[in-house]
Amino acid sequence: MIRKAYIFIFSSCILLACCQSDPIVFESPTGEKYRSEYHFTPEKAWMNDPNGMVYIDGDYHLFYQYYPDSTVWGPMHWGHTTSKDMLTWEHKPIALYPDSLGYIFSGSAVFDSNNSSGLGTESNPPYVAIYTYHDPVGAKSNSTTFQTQGIAYSLDKGESWTPFENNPVLENPGIRDFRDPKVMKMSREDGSDYWVMTLAVKDEIHFYGSPNLIDWEKLSDFGKNIGAHGGVWECPDLLQLTAPNGDEKWVLLVSLNPGGPQMGSATQYFIGEFIDGEFVPDDEMIRWVDYGPDNYAGVTWSNIPDSDGRTLFIGWMSNWLYAQLVPTETWRSAMTIPRELTLFDVDGTLLLKSRPVEELKSIRKKSFTISDISELPGQAFEFNAEVESDSFLFKIYNEAGEEIVFSKENGLVTVDRSNAGRKDFHPDFAASHSAPMSWEANHVRVFVDANSVELFINDGELVMTSLVFPENPYTNISVENGLDDLSIQSMKSVMNHSK
Ligand code: FRU
Repeated sequence: MIRKAYIFIFSSCILLACCQSDPIVFESPTGEKYRSEYHFTPEKAWMNDPNGMVYIDGDYHLFYQYYPDSTVWGPMHWGHTTSKDMLTWEHKPIALYPDSLGYIFSGSAVFDSNNSSGLGTESNPPYVAIYTYHDPVGAKSNSTTFQTQGIAYSLDKGESWTPFENNPVLENPGIRDFRDPKVMKMSREDGSDYWVMTLAVKDEIHFYGSPNLIDWEKLSDFGKNIGAHGGVWECPDLLQLTAPNGDEKWVLLVSLNPGGPQMGSATQYFIGEFIDGEFVPDDEMIRWVDYGPDNYAGVTWSNIPDSDGRTLFIGWMSNWLYAQLVPTETWRSAMTIPRELTLFDVDGTLLLKSRPVEELKSIRKKSFTISDISELPGQAFEFNAEVESDSFLFKIYNEAGEEIVFSKENGLVTVDRSNAGRKDFHPDFAASHSAPMSWEANHVRVFVDANSVELFINDGELVMTSLVFPENPYTNISVENGLDDLSIQSMKSVMNHSK
């Protein structure tokens, strides 16, 4: 206790001293410790997965698993927020409330432009959300059929949502974990359209097809004897991406909890073809979207205009291992920064690249060229450097000795948060996490915010996202070896919270 108090007084003095010589903003504008400055956080209370991500007339809509009455998980609603740049978010009223069929679990949203569902009109086609109903009473009993799929529609461009009166649209065939529908429109060879639902079922994926978002029939399943199976499969997504050689590929994202490479939750993906309603993988390799411990249940936006053409992803920046225990007070969980997904090739193997979206440059406040040891401009910043040789070591730290250490050596990239700050809330939080990177690193980019650090090597060829809870914000960066052309960009505080 005495030692803790001493460290606190000692570090406060140093902080004060820094602030006097150079006015550094170390607290978020809301005055709340750990409140993210440029990552989406709910105004208050509990949040998990991103849901229903759909772009409508200039607005990115983001819904999210939300329990407004507590800072731990509970009866799920869909919270709602919109943004023009995926960074500056406006909080909206709750979009979907639990009803007689159950809690509103994760799902997606699409633009039904031809009014195939009949829920809108030809002149005002509906936006349709497809989500899982989770009946809490059934879940506690011996029932296996308590998760079903329902839909809701919006006729006012996503502002308000009405549950369909004949829900559920897909009954449960008798499987306990049957959830998180991600729906997209596909074209048949004859040019006609149909809807495909990618659904997580126990530790497999089932694909369903529908002409109208209401009547669904099973097309195929995928996942037996392939991929990581250390836990339940959740929150899938099916994407079409172009390989560097011009081939059109299908990428299946599958979140898994537990069983991730760093314990707890993580997202794996498969690359292959989608032919006649069936996913056929190219190989049996296990690939991970993000090798850090804190990027889960991430999916992509639907209805992005062709003129943009990007595949845009956001994940829940946490891990079920400790998500409900992290030391934030009035709210829990942030989303990752938005990332653009593409494919790249390493010696004939295709991998997914998660590149920080271009829009992030618009929230840079100031750019500094820095030396090997430099003071940080605040708690929200980006760090960029060129990699000189193929190994590097640098750290971000404060005077109390709390530090995050980043390195690449012998083909392993490591982010060590063993001594990064608060760790008493879960025995497995403080850890060093490594990822294999057999190819050359030439650029390092790190996004730091009040409770997170996201490492992007070669602009997203390898990504590691980690939560950190320093007692006091980190004040310095020091580069031990391997990096050149160092620069720091301080970031604007763009979250708009009333508190
Ligand atoms: C993933 C998940 C989903 C489910 C939701 C419930 O984090 O478990 O499978 O729909 O959270 O909040």
